[in-house]
Amino acid sequence: MSPLEGDVTLSRLHRTALPALSVLILALSSLANATRTADEQNIPTQIPGHNAILMGTDWYPEQWPESRWETEVRMMEDAHLNVVRLAEFAWSAMEPSDGRFEFAWLDRAIRLLEKHHIAVVLGTPTAGPPAWLTHKYPETLRVEPDGQRVAPGNRAHGSPTSVKYREFCRGIAEEMAKRYGSDQNVVGWQIDNEYGYALMSYDDDTKKQFQDWLHDKYKNLDSLNRHWATAYWSQTYDDWSEIPIPTVPHNPALMLEWKRFVTQAWNSYQQNQLDVIRRYANPRQFITGNFMGLGWDGLDQYTITNPLTFASWDDYVGTGHLDPDKNGMSHDGMRGLKRENFWVIETQPGAVNWSDLNNYLNKGETRAMAWHAVAHGADDVSYWQWRSAPNGQEEMHGTLVGADGTPVPLLEEVTQTAKEFDRTQSAFRGTRVVSEVALLNDYESRWAIDLQKHTRQYNTYAVSQTYYKALRTIAQSMDVVSPYAPLDEYKLVVAPNLNLIPESLAKHLLDYVKNGGHLVLGPRAGLKDEYDALLPQRQPGFLADALGARVEQFYALDRNVPLYGTLGSGAGSLWAEQLKTTDANTQVLLRYGTSNGWLDGQPAVVTHAVEKGTITYVGAVLDDTLVTNLAELTARQSGVKPVFGAVPEGVEVSRRVGANKRVFVFINFSQQPKTIVLPHTMRSLLEDKPADTFELAPYGVGLALDQK
Ligand code: GLA
Repeated sequence: MSPLEGDVTLSRLHRTALPALSVLILALSSLANATRTADEQNIPTQIPGHNAILMGTDWYPEQWPESRWETEVRMMEDAHLNVVRLAEFAWSAMEPSDGRFEFAWLDRAIRLLEKHHIAVVLGTPTAGPPAWLTHKYPETLRVEPDGQRVAPGNRAHGSPTSVKYREFCRGIAEEMAKRYGSDQNVVGWQIDNEYGYALMSYDDDTKKQFQDWLHDKYKNLDSLNRHWATAYWSQTYDDWSEIPIPTVPHNPALMLEWKRFVTQAWNSYQQNQLDVIRRYANPRQFITGNFMGLGWDGLDQYTITNPLTFASWDDYVGTGHLDPDKNGMSHDGMRGLKRENFWVIETQPGAVNWSDLNNYLNKGETRAMAWHAVAHGADDVSYWQWRSAPNGQEEMHGTLVGADGTPVPLLEEVTQTAKEFDRTQSAFRGTRVVSEVALLNDYESRWAIDLQKHTRQYNTYAVSQTYYKALRTIAQSMDVVSPYAPLDEYKLVVAPNLNLIPESLAKHLLDYVKNGGHLVLGPRAGLKDEYDALLPQRQPGFLADALGARVEQFYALDRNVPLYGTLGSGAGSLWAEQLKTTDANTQVLLRYGTSNGWLDGQPAVVTHAVEKGTITYVGAVLDDTLVTNLAELTARQSGVKPVFGAVPEGVEVSRRVGANKRVFVFINFSQQPKTIVLPHTMRSLLEDKPADTFELAPYGVGLALDQK
C-alpha cells in the first residue's frame, strides 16, 4: 500500500512520539467518522484517506538539478507540507520536441514526494506552450485586437480557439493522464493555469466561431436583429459573416454576447482536456482549475467550474494587508461557485512581484490568512511557490525557500500553521460553511453595468462589498452564490447589482419571496433582459408589480444626495433612482433630501410584503451607515441570527458545521490583544484542552470545537 492510502497525519505521527491523549482523540474521531453518512465524509475537496485540511506548495523540479531534489522534498516534509502541485509549466520538459515525450523525470519526482508522504496535484502545462510548438505552428499563437500575433516567451500566448493548439493541449493532457491517471500518489489535476486571464484571439477563425455560436443560439438573424435592436444606427445584419468581434466599444448587446462567447470558448478549451483526463483518470482523482477570486470577472466562473470536481483559487493580497471582508467575500464567492468547499491552490508567501507595491505581509499575517481561508471553507492552502526559479519573470516573487536553497524566515510560520492543520484536521473533516444570508453575484449583470457604467466611478464590486461587510458582521457567515442557485435555504438574499432580470429569473426570485424569503435588490436592478435590452416595463421590470413600486428615472450623481427616513439619515453617492410607490402597502424606508430637484422628497428605498416574504428595493448607493441600518432591519425582519454571538471589534468569527459538531474560528485582525468569551465550554483545538475564553494577540487564531 502506498503510504498515501493511509492518513498523512497518521503516518507522520507514527514516526514521532504520539502522546496518549492524541491517540485517544484520533481513535474517537475515527469512531465518529464511522457513524457519519457517506456524503458527510466525501466532501470532494477533502481527499479520502488524507488530511481534511491540507497545506502545500508549488514546486518546479524541472528547474533544478535532480541531485538537489531529495533535499528540497525533505525540507517540505519537515515543514509538514502534504501536497505539492507539479508540472503546470513543464511542457518543454515533458515534450521536448514534437511528439517526443519524457516523463521519467516526473515519475521520479512523484515517487520522491510519495516517499516523503507528500501527495501530488498535476497541472496540465497548457498556459505555457513550448518554443518549438509556437515556432513550428504560429497559428497556435493568439492574435491581439490590433491584428498582431503575440510573441512567445511569456505565457497565456496559446490561442484558446485554435484547433491546432487544442490538438496539442489534448495531446499533452492525454499523455499525462495515461501515465498518471492511476498513480496512487496523484490525487488530482489542475487544468491549465488561470485560463489565460480569459485572453482571446482576434483572428478570422475565432470570428467565424463566434458567428457560428451566435447562429446556434439565435437560429435566425431576424431574432438577433430584433433582440439587439439593430435597426438603430443601421446595423441590421443580413448574413452571419457580417457580425464583427468587438475590439472597440460597440453595440452593448454584441459586447455582452462576446463576453459570453469568451466564457464558452474557454469552457470548451477546458472540456477538451477534461475529456481525456476523465477517460484515463481514476475517479478518486479530482479535476479543478485555479481561478482568480470573486473580483475577477473575465469569465463566468459558474459556467466554467460547473464540470470540475471543485473550485480552486489563487489568493493574493498584492499591495497592502489582508482585509478580512474583502478576502472573505472572495473566499465565499469561490465557495459559492459550486456551493462546496474549495482549495486555495496558490497563495502569497509573504510578498508578490506583480503589484504596485510588493510589500511583505506582517509577521503572523500569513498564518492568520491561512486560517482565514479554512474558516471560509478552504480545505487546502498552498503557497506559490516553494523556491524561486534561478531566473525568469518571477525571480523576485516571495517563496518559502531562497534561491540559495535555505529557508526564508516565513517558512517557520508556515510550518507552525501546517502542524496546526495536521493536529486539528480531524475536527474539520466533513465540515462546511452553512449560512442564512446569501449575496447574489451575477457575472452577466456585472458585465452589463460595466459596459454602460453611466458614471465612470461606478464599481459593482464595491457596492456588493458594502452589503457583504454589513451583513457578514451581523450574520457572521455569508454565502455568495449565483442568482440561479436554489435560494430556499436562505432567510435573507441581497442582490446589489442584478441589472439583468429576465422573466425566468424574476420568477425564481419571486418564488423565493412568496415562500417566505426576504429579497433586497440594489440599484440598477431589473433594468434589462438577458440580451441587454431595456425591459418594456420600468425597473425592477418583472418584479415591479410584486414590489408595489417602480423606478421613475435614474440619475448619475455629480454630488452626494442626502437621505432620510426610518432607516436613519445619511447620503447616497454616484447613482440615485427616483422611486414611485404603486401600492398603498408599499413602505418607504428612505427618501432623498434636497438635491437636483427631481429627487427632492422622493422615495429612495421601499419595501413591500409579498405573501410570506418581502421585497426591498434600494435605489441609491447608500453610505456605510445606511447599509448597516438596512442590513440590521432586514436581518431582524428575516430572523437572521449570528452563528456565534458578540465578538470584540477587529475579531472575525466563522463557523464550519459537520455532523454533531461545529468548529468556530476566531482571528484577531486588529493590532490589539482581544478576549473572546465562549457561551459555554468548548474544546480549544490548538491547545487541545477545554476552553471558556480565548486570549488572542494581534493576528492570533483561536479554534473552538463545539460538540454539544
Ligand atoms: C499566479 C500564477 C502563478 C504565479 C503567481 C504569482 O497566480 O498562477 O503561476 O505567477 O500568480 O503571484
